Amino acid sequence: MLSGKRIILGVTGGIAAYKAAYLLREFQKAGAEVRVTMTPSATRFIGSDTFASLSGHEVAVEIFPDEGQSDDWTRHIYWGEWADLFVIAPCTANTLAKITHGISDNMLTSTVLAARCPILICPTMDGEMYESPSVSKNLTELEQKGYHILEPASGYLASGLEGKGRLPETEDILRSASDIIGNMEGPLEGKKVLVTAGPTREYLDPVRFISNPSSGKMGIAMAEAARDLGAEVILIHGPLSVAAPDDLRRVPVTSAAQMFDAVKEYQDADIVIMSAAVADFTPSEVHEHKVKKSESGSEIRLKRTQDILKWLGENKKEEQILIGFAMETENLLRNARTKLDEKNADYIIANSLNDQDSGFGSDLNKVHLLSKTSDEQFKATKKDLGRILLNKIFRNRY
Ligand code: CTP
Repeated sequence: MLSGKRIILGVTGGIAAYKAAYLLREFQKAGAEVRVTMTPSATRFIGSDTFASLSGHEVAVEIFPDEGQSDDWTRHIYWGEWADLFVIAPCTANTLAKITHGISDNMLTSTVLAARCPILICPTMDGEMYESPSVSKNLTELEQKGYHILEPASGYLASGLEGKGRLPETEDILRSASDIIGNMEGPLEGKKVLVTAGPTREYLDPVRFISNPSSGKMGIAMAEAARDLGAEVILIHGPLSVAAPDDLRRVPVTSAAQMFDAVKEYQDADIVIMSAAVADFTPSEVHEHKVKKSESGSEIRLKRTQDILKWLGENKKEEQILIGFAMETENLLRNARTKLDEKNADYIIANSLNDQDSGFGSDLNKVHLLSKTSDEQFKATKKDLGRILLNKIFRNRY
């Protein structure tokens, strides 16, 4: 159940914080990808480097990144969009109270507010504290708000007393997490999503073609994100320079004309994401045999290809959502807005080739998500961006 899922593990300042390292390992063994956020007091019980080494990812403690970490102070928002599940284990009475009242004074509590996924809280404290009227009231309130609470176990406590307040066994936390994920419906459940990716190739003769450096990474990330959010996905792609996942239904094509034909076949999709870098021009004449240099002139005559997104916009069915991309080298927002209008798209994901962390082949991407009424900026790896953007668009739509 946890395989391929993304979990944020929140660790707060109780003696059981060291057990969270074992929990992290068990989540990983179950196939989940884990990121850790700790409260500052949790770092007094176990070092953040332990979690950084185990998770293979920086550990976030404060909203403003520590020295040497990514320079992004809005990462609590990305993390919140990124995750399938947020598990807070152990969760102290203090953090419990903050969550109950919407306080967001560190990375963990801020990410709780930003999270769009289910949140599993494992209250862990001394028995007297757990039984106190304030903690009981907070737990009831949190349950009513839709948080999942895993009751603490009973036994020997750090205070030397016996009671209820221990962090449950790792296997119980895992079972609880699996149950929550198993009962979860992705926001794209029951939706058919068509994604295009990669470049097209426009052949002049059997050995030469016009193309562009698109790798297909962003399109594949969009397709995988749609799949992970529950959609039935069809990926139509040109020649890719990265491997496409085996478990996606794929339609490989070469030219813009072939991509257009394939897109028309799946035109009834609920959502179309045109990530492909479709060639705008194709040779007017295609030679059957290799053109010899002795025979040819130095000019190639070109004609326009079909603008597929524009055609989709003109033939849009009711309720269908069209998402296009725009890659620009100047006037990013003006050009992207023109594309949004002229192609009748609902969203344009725009990036600039001039940005260092962006563009063809890069693993990172920095984009604007534009709709007719909004403009939001995101920066993350392409892999994460797929999920972040689709969550942003679809979480509250269906
Ligand atoms: N697109 C398309 N068919 C084409 C060209 C582009 O469907 N023949 C789609 C792309 O998949 C992308 C969007 O249109 O979603 C914008 O592509 P882009 O190359 O940025 O812009 P163009 O429309 O080609 O315009 P220009 O060349 O003027 O920038």
